[in-house]
Amino acid sequence: MTERTFCMIKPDSVKRGLVGEIIKRIEAAGFTIRAAKLSNVSQEQAETLYQEHVEKDFYQGLVDFAMEGSALPMVLESEGAVQKVRDLIGATNPENAEPGTIRGDLGEEELPRNLVHASDSIESAEREIPIFFSESELV
Ligand code: CMP
Repeated sequence: MTERTFCMIKPDSVKRGLVGEIIKRIEAAGFTIRAAKLSNVSQEQAETLYQEHVEKDFYQGLVDFAMEGSALPMVLESEGAVQKVRDLIGATNPENAEPGTIRGDLGEEELPRNLVHASDSIESAEREIPIFFSESELV
C-alpha cells in the first residue's frame, strides 16, 4: 500500500553537511519526496514531536538538540513507507545500527544525535506531518 511518512534530517546531519548524502539514499531507495523545507524547529514543534518521551530522562536534551540548528523535515511516499524508511535509517542508537543503513554508515556521535527521525507507525506519521506541514505544502 502506498503510504506517506514523516522523516526529519536532524541538526547534527545538517551541521556535518550530510543532507545531500541522506537525500541521495532516500531517493535511491525509491521514495518520492512530497514536501521538504529547511527549518529552525520551534520549541512547540520539538515538544509536540517528542511528546511521547516527556517522562524520559533524556527528553529535555532531545528537545534542545532538535532546536540547536537547522533541520530538514520531509514527507516521504512509497509502498510501505513507514517501515521502509526505518529500515533505511537503522537502529535508534548508531552504535547498534547495521552497516548499509544511514545511522550505521554515517553515525559518529552518541544519542540523541542519530542523524534522522522517522515516524514509527502510520498513526505517528499522521500526527507528525501536520506539526511541520500544512496540507497545501504537500505536493
Ligand atoms: P528518534 O527516531 O527521533 O526518536 C526519538 C529520539 O529520542 C531518538 O531518535 C533519539 O534521538 C532520542 N533517544 C532515544 N533514546 C535515547 C536515549 N537513551 N538517550 C538519549 N536520546 C535518546
